[in-house]
Amino acid sequence: MVDVKTENEPVETEGKHRSAQSRGPDSFSLAHLSDLHLTSLNDVKIPQLLNKRMLGYCSWWHKRRHIHRREIIESLVDDLRNTRPDHIAVTGDLTHLGLPMEYAEVGQWLPSLGSPDQVTVIPGNHEAYWGKDWLDSCAMWAPYLESDSTQRETSKTADFFPSVRIRGQVAIIGLCSATPSLPLLAIGSLGQEQLSKLEAILQETGNKGLLRIILIHHPPVPGLVNWRKRLTDSRAFADILARHGAELVLHGHAHNPTLSKLQTPGGYVSVVGGASASQLSQPSSHHASYNTYRLSRIGADWDLTMFVRRYSEKSGSFVEEQQVALNIPHF
Ligand SMILES: [Fe+2]
Ligand SMILES: [Fe+2]
Repeated sequence: MVDVKTENEPVETEGKHRSAQSRGPDSFSLAHLSDLHLTSLNDVKIPQLLNKRMLGYCSWWHKRRHIHRREIIESLVDDLRNTRPDHIAVTGDLTHLGLPMEYAEVGQWLPSLGSPDQVTVIPGNHEAYWGKDWLDSCAMWAPYLESDSTQRETSKTADFFPSVRIRGQVAIIGLCSATPSLPLLAIGSLGQEQLSKLEAILQETGNKGLLRIILIHHPPVPGLVNWRKRLTDSRAFADILARHGAELVLHGHAHNPTLSKLQTPGGYVSVVGGASASQLSQPSSHHASYNTYRLSRIGADWDLTMFVRRYSEKSGSFVEEQQVALNIPHF
């Protein structure tokens, strides 16, 4: 169950569950996956592993290769084929060590989720694990990272973010908090340039009346993760939302589901942390999960419902566990 840090109560579900699939032009569904850590390091050559990467490899060998399971990822892809969301957002940490061979492996896997038009990806700290050349490797995923052509300013890799993709009444805004950090640290930063661009994008898309969904890997709310995993400029991010607002913020990184909030001019916006969508941790309430959001227009207002789908070891498939009605700020 979601570790709820909000006043919202789960929506009662009676009889046949309402589907997360969209119902028409005034409805939009978005699946949010995070922290898949789907790559294998079986073929890694030890000379590739220096300093921090060696620590990461030891962690993978002893622990993470047993937690993040391939059969769960295959079940996840099957489930998404059945639930058929309009769009899929992946909030980073697809790799373990950010090796070029891992980028290539993920690049071959992404089409199983959908075309670049249907899937938006942002990087996590594990993509920047080694550092200096990671943005060059990231370019392997370019079609899944970049903005719509009408929004694109340049084709330089470093300028992928913030990315902006418009789907109907929804603006999907991707941020990059991934940054190389010292051993034993997994911090993230947005940086002043990206924050300035975000401010302009929120203002512009807000003026157009679009529903703005922000994707970020690190939790932008202080206290959700240990200080060594924190977003260093979370206060600046919160200040921008307090000025310009957003309708939903989705993140990963903690590997646990959380629901918190940030202030906007129209009330608070829901900030939802997705669990790892590939992990098999005990107890079963910590198994892999992902969320799908359905936005539906009701008169002049929008209704936002989150559907939590969790992996069942017993059935070997994802099943709906919970529905939660979320707040949308009103300006
Ligand atoms: Fe992760
Ligand atoms: Fe992470």
